[in-house]
This record gives sequence, C-alpha cells and structure tokens, in this order.
Amino acid sequence: MPSTRSIEVLATAADLFHAAAEEFVRVGRAGIGAQGRFTVALSGGSTPKGLYSLLASKYADFAWNRVFLFFGDERHVPPTDPESNYRMVEESLLAKIAIPAENVFRVPAENPDTSAAAADYEAQLRRFFELRPGEFPRFDLILLGMGPDGHTASLFPDSPALDEQSRLVVANWVAKFNTHRITFTFPVLNRAAEVIFLASGPDKADILHQVLEDKSTPSLPSQRVQPSDGKLLWMLDEAAAAKLTR
Ligand code: 6PG
Repeated sequence: MPSTRSIEVLATAADLFHAAAEEFVRVGRAGIGAQGRFTVALSGGSTPKGLYSLLASKYADFAWNRVFLFFGDERHVPPTDPESNYRMVEESLLAKIAIPAENVFRVPAENPDTSAAAADYEAQLRRFFELRPGEFPRFDLILLGMGPDGHTASLFPDSPALDEQSRLVVANWVAKFNTHRITFTFPVLNRAAEVIFLASGPDKADILHQVLEDKSTPSLPSQRVQPSDGKLLWMLDEAAAAKLTR
C-alpha cells in the first residue's frame, strides 16, 4: 500500500470527533473483516477524550470483543493517577463498553523502574503479535496527538528515544518534565497500516503550520511519523487548521 498523507479539516471539535469515530470504526471493521481482529494503539493527553466518549456512546454495539487496545505512550504514574493516560481511557471509554479485560494492554507504569516497565510492555507486544527477533508489529491503527513543541506520543524534541531503531517501547527521559515517559518508538509508529493525528483548538495552529508546511525548521518528532507502507491522516478542526495555507 503506497504511503499517503492527507489532511481533513472539520468545522468544530464535535465534528472532528464524529469524523474520527467514523474513521476508527471504518478501519476497525476492515481489520475485523480481513483478520478477525482490530489492533489499535490509543493516544493520551486531553484531545482524544472527546473521541473516546463518542465511541462509547455512539458505537457501544461495535464488535469490541474483536478489538485489541494498546497505548502509544504513558506517563510514569499508576493507573489510578489523574495524570494516567490509562485512567483517562478507562473513564471515557473502557468503563462504558463490553471489551474483554484481556483485550486491553495497559502499560505497567506503576513500576518504579521505567526501563523494566518499558521492557515488560515490549514483551507484551512481541507475544501478542508473535514477533520474531528484529520484527516489528503492524498495528491496523495508531492514534496520535501533538504537543505545542511538536512532540508526539512521548517522543519529545531532543530526547534520547528519537534515535531508537530496534526496540519497540522505551523509557524516554523528558528533561522539561524532569521525568521518564514510556513510549512507542518511531519504528513502531512508522509500520502502522494507518496513523491518525488528532489536533483541536487554536493553541495547535502555530505548530501545525510548522509541522505541515514549514520546511525550514529541523524535523520535529511529529514530522518523523511517516508510515513506510501506510496511510497518514491529519484530522483537525478549523481552529487548529487556522494557519494552514488552503
Ligand atoms: C500524552 C500524549 C501526548 C499528547 C500531546 C497532546 O501522554 O500526553 O500521548 O503525546 O498527545 O501532548 O496533548 P493534548 O491532547 O493534551 O494537547
């Protein structure tokens, strides 16, 4: 499948979440039809909460028993912590849908040793995707967000994990937060069949212009998400897309 990049701009955040939910379900149905399962990695942060809530309310009857959920990154906190991406997803989606607990692969971020937590999560991916050494998983869909500095998942500018080429999951030191985050690496992101970036609101307008249109800046982490054999879809609302040339 040739790699494609497309940008979809929706009028409002609500429209954005509706369109993203439809795309999630479209990719999901295709995966279940083709392989009997849908493998998806969810993003954290605040933006996708609206999507997850809508999936729970509008698509409660989706074949969630065929969906296998992973997390593209996690903060170094237990799953009960307000900062936890897992907690956000649990409250906005998992608690409201009939998905078997064994289909949800949480990052064991309560482990004080973040490298051990990352290695554990990598082992879970390798087991689930039945990978041989050196192989990488191919997710049907990976959802991503983008921070005002151009970071995605927990791949921050000037952070050590940017150059990781063999591991699937690493503990990445994020100097500005003075903490480690546990994150998928670029090789995993760039082997997905489809990657969706979701961005909403005026505070994303400058960075979106930089990432999508400004060739002068050195490449930011979000610019390095280029599926080698897949679809890259930027889904934005008007406020986020305000500084794009159209
Ligand atoms: C996280 C995310 C991160 C997020 C961006 C955007 O754990 O925070 O995975 O990459 O997607 O920081 O966050 P907002 O959606 O809150 O703007």
